[in-house]
Amino acid sequence: MVNDYDKFAKERQEQLKKGLKRPHRFIEKPMMRELLPNLEGKKVLMLGCGTGEESIMLNEFGATNITGIDLSEESIRLAKESYPNCEFIAGDMHKLPFDDNYFDFVYSSLALHYSEEPENVYKEIYRVLKKDGRLLFSVGHPLRWACEEKEIEGIKCRVIAHGTSDDTPYEIGNYNTFKKHEHHFKNGEVLSFYVGSPSMHFKLLKKAGFTIEDFKEGICIDEAKDIDYNYWNKYHEIPEFMAFLAKK
Ligand SMILES: C[S@@+](CC[C@H](N)C(=O)[O-])C[C@H]1O[C@@H](n2cnc3c(N)ncnc32)[C@H](O)[C@@H]1O
Repeated sequence: MVNDYDKFAKERQEQLKKGLKRPHRFIEKPMMRELLPNLEGKKVLMLGCGTGEESIMLNEFGATNITGIDLSEESIRLAKESYPNCEFIAGDMHKLPFDDNYFDFVYSSLALHYSEEPENVYKEIYRVLKKDGRLLFSVGHPLRWACEEKEIEGIKCRVIAHGTSDDTPYEIGNYNTFKKHEHHFKNGEVLSFYVGSPSMHFKLLKKAGFTIEDFKEGICIDEAKDIDYNYWNKYHEIPEFMAFLAKK
């Protein structure tokens, strides 16, 4: 089954707690840290919070009033068990069960790219944020996630390219078109998600009413070099994720 977060929740949580999820540890969370403001006294929403581990990082930035929401009921059950200092609710990011102008800050790691309608999610986040409230979120970068798998000289590669064969131009992968993709993990987990260009997200955020304050493209941090050289070598040039900081 695709996107079975209930089935893999426990395994994902154990990997996150042990720092075994390399994309989170070496790319995505360091990128988010660079954009996180001081959250002291702020009412914070974690959107697509999974099993709640990101609350530890938000605590470090001063947040004490944190609510998490996720579609996966099993993830929410584990989050409640693990982080009793936060509030957790099972629910859908397309229809948030909160009043207008309720939160100061909305944080979302690698969850918004599961929506086929990001514009509607941005509008919903805008609704629940207070005036001057901020949204920080990350999604897959098209340079990494909108590629196609090809074998080149015996090596499995993910490629975005264009070329010409017998006068016929062709393209591999897509950067510009918002499109559904699937990723198959070694443990049998299959995730399907949507990838769009940075300019598409800028356009939809502005349409929802946001002002974009910052943007980052996440590559592997240098600390990873001594811990897992091959991983660092693979991901230190091409961004795997991107993050947007937007203000209401
Ligand atoms: C890759 S996980 C990220 C979890 C967590 N933010 C982290 O970084 O560890 C994506 C999460 O998004 C949640 N999700 C997917 N679609 C959702 C929706 N429509 N509403 C709320 N959560 C959703 C999934 O259940 C999953 O827990």
